[in-house]
Amino acid sequence: MAPKSFIIFTLLTFSLSFSQISAMNYNVINLAANKPGGIRFTKEIGIPYTKQIMGTINDFIWSTVFQQNTPSDQKLVDSANVYIVEFDGAEAIEWGNNNINVSSIYLNGYQGDQKWQFTSLFYHEMTHIFQWDGEGHAPLSLVEGIADYTKLRAGYAQQGFAKPGQGDRWDQGYDFTARFLEYCDRINSGFVAKLNKKMRFDFDVKYFKDLMGKPVDQLWKEYKAKYGQ
Ligand SMILES: *[C@@H]1O[C@H](CO)[C@@H](O)[C@H](O)[C@H]1NC(C)=O
Ligand SMILES: [Zn+2]
Repeated sequence: MAPKSFIIFTLLTFSLSFSQISAMNYNVINLAANKPGGIRFTKEIGIPYTKQIMGTINDFIWSTVFQQNTPSDQKLVDSANVYIVEFDGAEAIEWGNNNINVSSIYLNGYQGDQKWQFTSLFYHEMTHIFQWDGEGHAPLSLVEGIADYTKLRAGYAQQGFAKPGQGDRWDQGYDFTARFLEYCDRINSGFVAKLNKKMRFDFDVKYFKDLMGKPVDQLWKEYKAKYGQ
């Protein structure tokens, strides 16, 4: 091999190994292009922007939230697909491992900055693609809490998101559980990453004690006490 092509070959190999974190295919299809929400999507958000934030969020989830820096730690996914669809009942739904359906009806109802709200939604939905759920044994409330934690961590907690100390139970789900996870993560840096890692093949509530040294109920009491509730 001539020196010049050898250098090019080496550079290529390096750039391939370093870009592994983004070696994903992001597909976005607007199946509601003629509906009001689908028209707003095209005008105010668009397919290029969606693909761009999918890459950013994917990297954020792996590097910051789950701290999975090697493919062997990560969930095996090579693509993520988004469908803008006319359906009612939910803002979005994650399904079949790596697909997200976004409701054009909800998109049409967004007030204010559409792009910001869409991005916030994607921090949550994309977490579902990459998180472990103890092979189905983890409570759904915790799974949703972790997805909302990603949003919170990224600075995309929407208006009305629970304040620290709010809620009645650690497993109340969504933003309530996310705030509790935030509390644990501040005491034990990387807690959410460690918890997710333990949830790869199973779930047991004692994972909290393993990581925090105290049972979850005691942690919850201390959390409530800290915020005077
Ligand atoms: C999502 O939308 C696609 C395309 O319309 C459809 O085939 C699929 O069944 C939908 N998934 C869910 C869970 O609704
Ligand atoms: Zn969810």
